[in-house]
Amino acid sequence: MKFFIDTANLDEIREAQDLGVLDGVTTNPSLMAKEGITGQANVLKHYKDICDIVDDNVSAEVIATEYEKMVAEGKELAKIDDKIVVKIPMIKDGVKAISALTAEGIRTNCTLIFNAGQAILAAKAGASYVSPFIGRLDDISMDGLALIEQIVGIYDNYGFETEVLAASIRHNMHLIQCAEIGADVATCPLGVITGLLKHPLTDSGLEKFLADHKKSNK
Ligand code: E4P
Repeated sequence: MKFFIDTANLDEIREAQDLGVLDGVTTNPSLMAKEGITGQANVLKHYKDICDIVDDNVSAEVIATEYEKMVAEGKELAKIDDKIVVKIPMIKDGVKAISALTAEGIRTNCTLIFNAGQAILAAKAGASYVSPFIGRLDDISMDGLALIEQIVGIYDNYGFETEVLAASIRHNMHLIQCAEIGADVATCPLGVITGLLKHPLTDSGLEKFLADHKKSNK
């Protein structure tokens, strides 16, 4: 299972990268705005800064919503670095743009996926990744994890190479259940990744080991 961090914050990306378990980064326009990154030149530079920290897989989202403009923007983003994956929303022009970018060898991540039909369409268009949003479905009392399971099953039936990138992950159990289901990737905030480290018995166990060592090594 690949771990991506879902943020545009460079310090958080560095911290996850330093842990040695990071496979990529996902951003979106809201996350970029949260970091105060505005203006085309700054946005492109910020993506480059992210690429310089991680080994691969930096999802950079297009703002355009019309086919030609999406393709042009996708190509511009892809030029920043070979690590860029162009993130395209699941709309009609987006599906066409994914096909066009895929034909040019540019990797894509189809975002804002909320049902299996959308995931089938993205895979047919050749998306490298498909991003179903678990947390946002849970927020409206729908089962986000069931959607991940459904998409994994459908892709297995037909051998689609599109990777299932579980997004909008809110807590550790989301991530663990995605792993049980067989999601290819989970993208989550830094707190969810570091949260996997924690167990009170680990802390108390280590405390006792160190205390016993100290006692017998006076
Ligand atoms: C995925 O690529 C999105 O950036 C993200 O996971 C959305 O998460 P949210 O629902 O917590 O905003």
